[in-house]
Amino acid sequence: ARLAVFVSGGGSNFKAIHAACLDGRINGTVVAVVSDVPTCGGVSYAREHGIPTLTYPVVKKGEHAGSGLTPTQLVDTLKSGPSAADFVLLAGYLKLIPPELCRAFPRAMLNIHPGLLPSFGGKGYYGERVHKAVIASGARFSGPTVHFVDEEFDTGPILAQRVVPVFPTDSPKQLAARVLREEHVVYPHCVAALCDGRIGWREDGVPILWEAK
Ligand code: GRF
Repeated sequence: ARLAVFVSGGGSNFKAIHAACLDGRINGTVVAVVSDVPTCGGVSYAREHGIPTLTYPVVKKGEHAGSGLTPTQLVDTLKSGPSAADFVLLAGYLKLIPPELCRAFPRAMLNIHPGLLPSFGGKGYYGERVHKAVIASGARFSGPTVHFVDEEFDTGPILAQRVVPVFPTDSPKQLAARVLREEHVVYPHCVAALCDGRIGWREDGVPILWEAK
């Protein structure tokens, strides 16, 4: 299957997915990397691996000011032409996805959140702020959530989660690293199922991941 990946930072989830495509764990090819930060690590990695990169949204200030696609151009680019994708994967992407793109990829866009949704999610809960809130809450478990993307932040149907322990002595950085390790396991696992057509839907709209034989 053809995959478009959205990144804003280091792109470690993108790299884990790309590695799984190269070694056959995922029957997929990354056909485009989209970022709001043209100078981020995920974009550099894509360039090094000959993967086309796109900028979304339009960059307002700085050296890349003025570059970037409009929502309509983004949808057109990802639906047709050389970067046409079957699935869109948000991987450390921090801007809101335009509703036009959500509508263009129904049940075909995933995101990974570094917390156990529906807790510790939604606008404002991203990166280290998630881990700070988890530690402050006294919760004893956390972990990544992979979910389908709808037009809000972090509210789409949950596909998979993994659990890691939270120790009261944890710093946000220590918890972030423990969760990130599990992200790199669960996200490729979900993308492999998506590419293999091993995802079904319960009649009330909850997705079912059928494990490979
Ligand atoms: C990770 O915590 C991920 O859960 C969140 O963005 C952070 C950075 O991800 N979505 P990456 O290293 O850029 O993939």
